[in-house]
Amino acid sequence: MTETILVTGGAGYIGSHTTLALLEAGYDVVVLDNLCNSSNESLHRVAQLANKAALFVEGDIRDAALLDSLFAKHPISAVLHFAGLKAVGESVREPLRYYENNVAGTVTLCQAMARAGVYRLVFSSSATVYGEPTQMPIREDFPTGVPTNPYGRSKLMVEQLFADLAQSEPSWRIAALRYFNPVGAHHSGQIGEDPNGIPNNLLPYISQVAIGKLAQLAVFGNDYPTVDGTGVRDYIHVVDLADGHLKALQAMTSRSGLHIWNLGTGVGYSVLQMLKAFEQANGLTIPYRLVARRPGDIAECWADPAKAEEELGWRATRGLTDMMADTWRWQSANPQGYAVAAALNEPLSA
Ligand code: NAD
Ligand code: UD1
Repeated sequence: MTETILVTGGAGYIGSHTTLALLEAGYDVVVLDNLCNSSNESLHRVAQLANKAALFVEGDIRDAALLDSLFAKHPISAVLHFAGLKAVGESVREPLRYYENNVAGTVTLCQAMARAGVYRLVFSSSATVYGEPTQMPIREDFPTGVPTNPYGRSKLMVEQLFADLAQSEPSWRIAALRYFNPVGAHHSGQIGEDPNGIPNNLLPYISQVAIGKLAQLAVFGNDYPTVDGTGVRDYIHVVDLADGHLKALQAMTSRSGLHIWNLGTGVGYSVLQMLKAFEQANGLTIPYRLVARRPGDIAECWADPAKAEEELGWRATRGLTDMMADTWRWQSANPQGYAVAAALNEPLSA
């Protein structure tokens, strides 16, 4: 029988790629998104690519009555929970908004799931919960650290909440996926990352320099103890990440309790290596300057992905060239992101 999955935040960057992967794998999908950081144009594109549409419901995970009605109306067997706010600087300025959406929103969602008797949940956590690890690569059994901002703390709080929940009620089957640095776009160039305003993250910034929206990249610090002095991260293609969610969803049919998996490639690249890779993959030159470190940044961070490979049968297969080519295909085909197409479209709603 076809399973129906509720995807919160399914119109967003990672949620839209995962919704596509779910539809392609034969699932029925209900997306709940308040569109506070996205456009449902992403879901129009997903429907074209999959030849099948998700049901879109515009609404908020903090709306308990709406959640109850969704669980009553649809035979939902599991929830993929992407909805949340993710801008680090904004979380420092507006902590209550972050705790309300990311922590209280998750509490409301779990309460509604329990009322409906739906206990299978896959959550978007982050490598930020490791704080400043002293050893690389990072394994899931390393102690969690002290995230440097309210966004990071909200992710850690939710993981702790899940541990308590799983302890209290054995029906819960929860996967917390600790993403490293998601980048790239679907190879069609139809869906991708569409950040609001000036991007904080490296790849969106580089691609906006490439398209001419921004003048040059500022490289934050070249005095880290790394290969070339610039920060090192584990960049993972968003389509690999989406596949990891399907694997975790399947794994949680036969497991109970809380399970944590790193989703990364196991390989770290520096900022300058990323810049060169983007230039080489796309035949472009990206102007840049070296500036001071960004407060709160760590020198390096990459995953040990062995646990996900052993237990989920998942590993990232897309390399740097794919990440760079796919990012640029999306950016160059959609210089304004979803904005122009969204203005031409009729609303897509339940
Ligand atoms: P995104 O902003 O593109 O997607 C999040 C979606 O959630 C958006 O469509 C937004 O409109 C929706 N949303 C936010 N609050 C909501 C609410 N209260 N009710 C309903 N919908 C709501 O972000 P993304 O990059 O796709 O990230 C997805 C998840 O993964 C987030 O939880 C994020 O914290 C986490 N994560 C992202 C990264 C990253 O680098 N992108 C890294 C680690 C973890
Ligand atoms: C950041 C967030 C982290 C979040 C993650 C994914 C901070 C301190 N951390 O991580 O909580 O989970 O994004 O959304 O914001 N860089 C530049 N110039 C730029 C942008 C970035 O040199 O304009 C460098 C950074 O210093 C870093 C690397 O590029 O070394 C990657 O940065 P970014 O994409 O922001 O990701 P993280 O810092 O890993």
